[in-house]
Amino acid sequence: MTQGPQSPSRSATGASVSVAGVSHAYGDVEVLHDVNFAVQPGELVALTGPSGSGKSTLLHLMGALDRPTQGRILVADVDVGELRRPAVFRRTSVGFVFQLHYLLPTLTVQQNVELPMAAARVPRHERAARARALLEEVGLWGRGRALPSELSGGERQRVALARALANQPPLILADEPTGSLDSAAADSVWRLLEDLRRRRGTTVVVASHDRSLIPHADRSLQLVEGRLSEVSAVQPRPCTAER
Ligand SMILES: Nc1ncnc2c1ncn2[C@@H]1O[C@H](COP(=O)(O)OP(=O)(O)O)[C@@H](O)[C@H]1O
Ligand SMILES: [Mg+2]
Repeated sequence: MTQGPQSPSRSATGASVSVAGVSHAYGDVEVLHDVNFAVQPGELVALTGPSGSGKSTLLHLMGALDRPTQGRILVADVDVGELRRPAVFRRTSVGFVFQLHYLLPTLTVQQNVELPMAAARVPRHERAARARALLEEVGLWGRGRALPSELSGGERQRVALARALANQPPLILADEPTGSLDSAAADSVWRLLEDLRRRRGTTVVVASHDRSLIPHADRSLQLVEGRLSEVSAVQPRPCTAER
C-alpha cells in the first residue's frame, strides 16, 4: 500500500516504552508479577500467552486505562501511572484496537474515523481529509460512506485501526485485534500493522494468543501466569520509518 496525496503530512514517530518492575493486583489477587521489558521506538512487539496470563492487563497499564500497583511504565519518558489527566494522554498518545471493533453502528465509516479527531478538537475541515487519507491507508479508499454493518469483519477491524490512528499517536496498543476474524482476514490485519510500523514508524504492541502474529513482529514476548517467560527476537529488521 502506498501513501496517497491526501495522506497526513505530519507522520507520527514511535514512542519508546519502558516497563520496569511492574506488578498489578485486582483486590488481593496479584496477576502481573515484576514484569520488565523495553520497546524501542518503531518496534512491533507481539505479546503472546494463554488466556488469563495478563496480556490485557498489561496493555491497559501501558495505555493509562489503569495504574500499576507497583513499578513504573514510561511511554516516551512520561510516567503513565502518574498522569494527572490520563484521558488527555489516551486521546493524544495512544491508539487502541480491541477484539471487538466498537464502531458506532449508526455513523458511517468516515464519521467513525473522525470521532477521535473531534474529541481532540481537530478543525472540522481537516477531519474529513485526514479520515479519507487514513481509510486509503488501510485499504478502504472509497468506503467512507458505508455503514459498519455493510463491511466484512476484517474491513471493520481495518476501520478500527484507522480510527486508532486518527490523532496520529506514537503508540498503538492492539488487544486480540484478530480474535473474531478468520485466518485470511487476520493475516491482512497483521500485514497492515507491519506496514504501519514500517511506513509511519509507529510503535505497536499487539497482545494475542494467536501465534500466527509472531512472524509479523520484530520481537515476541510471552506472558505465562503474569510473568514474562520468553523474549525472542523474531528477525532483525530496520526500525526506522521510511520518509
Ligand atoms: N477487572 C478485573 N478484576 C479482577 N480480575 C481481573 C480483572 N481483569 C482481569 N482479571 C484477572 O486477571 C488475570 C489476567 O487477565 P487478563 O489480563 O485479562 O489476561 P489475558 O488478556 O491474557 O487473557 C486473570 O486471572 C483475570 O481473571
Ligand atoms: Mg485479554
